[in-house]
Amino acid sequence: MKLSKEYFDSLVSKKQAENTVFFDCLPSTNTYLKELLRKSAVPSGYCVIADSQTNGKGRLGRSFSSPEGVGIYLSFALNVEGIPPEEVSRLTAWSAVSVRRAILKAFCIDCKIKWVNDLVYGTKKVCGILTESVFDTDGKIKYAVIGIGVNVNNKTTDFPEELRDKAISLKMISGKTYEREALAAKIICELEALSAAFPPKKDEYLSEYKENCAVIGKKAFFGSPEKSGTAISVNDDFSLAVLTDEGETVNISYGDVGIKGFYGV
Ligand code: BTN
Repeated sequence: MKLSKEYFDSLVSKKQAENTVFFDCLPSTNTYLKELLRKSAVPSGYCVIADSQTNGKGRLGRSFSSPEGVGIYLSFALNVEGIPPEEVSRLTAWSAVSVRRAILKAFCIDCKIKWVNDLVYGTKKVCGILTESVFDTDGKIKYAVIGIGVNVNNKTTDFPEELRDKAISLKMISGKTYEREALAAKIICELEALSAAFPPKKDEYLSEYKENCAVIGKKAFFGSPEKSGTAISVNDDFSLAVLTDEGETVNISYGDVGIKGFYGV
């Protein structure tokens, strides 16, 4: 079934209903929203949702599988003028806390966070988050575009073969079929709460991130040439502290960290 804008509107405030647009199909909701923000005046909190994407983007140049009728592909604009870039770069981690809360509140499913931008159930991926920046003419960050993809009602066969041992949907977890509009509404409600809290309420989001981070104590692989170690903690700037096999502590702020047992690693 296609997403119903009418049903979604009945679940959110009048303002948020006005600020959310739906599409049957886009190449990428993030790319669409970034273009829109460059071209026209758009309020903070503006949101783009598509029923499918033909070029869904993930972190580090990867793609995000976005079949029609089963997932949520959503991009949310946040005005971050005046906020230091290093704070803005932490929005992906903040958003992971928000989406985790939304899934828990909407459907009572307790996902965990795989550093830095994924939600997982067990060792499989339920949700990915890609935050991108839009700059003003002076080169300062004006907007962050928070892009969220959630596997909601996918069956195993809805995932490309190479993802079948790495990804899971909420339906595959519980056996239930969920209303995607209800989850989209909850996610946006949580992102509105994030907008009000960012950045002063960092401690609240950080402690929830730490409590629900799935990778602590696990074997980690990172860097090029690859190093390995054990993920020991999330630092106060949301970076991941890894104790290498050589006994050195490395704080990782960006890039990929493979975790043994997750996604076929
Ligand atoms: C990742 O897994 O590395 C991040 C995936 C982010 C996917 C979402 S779907 C909505 C938005 N539009 C995109 O093209 N990507 C994000």
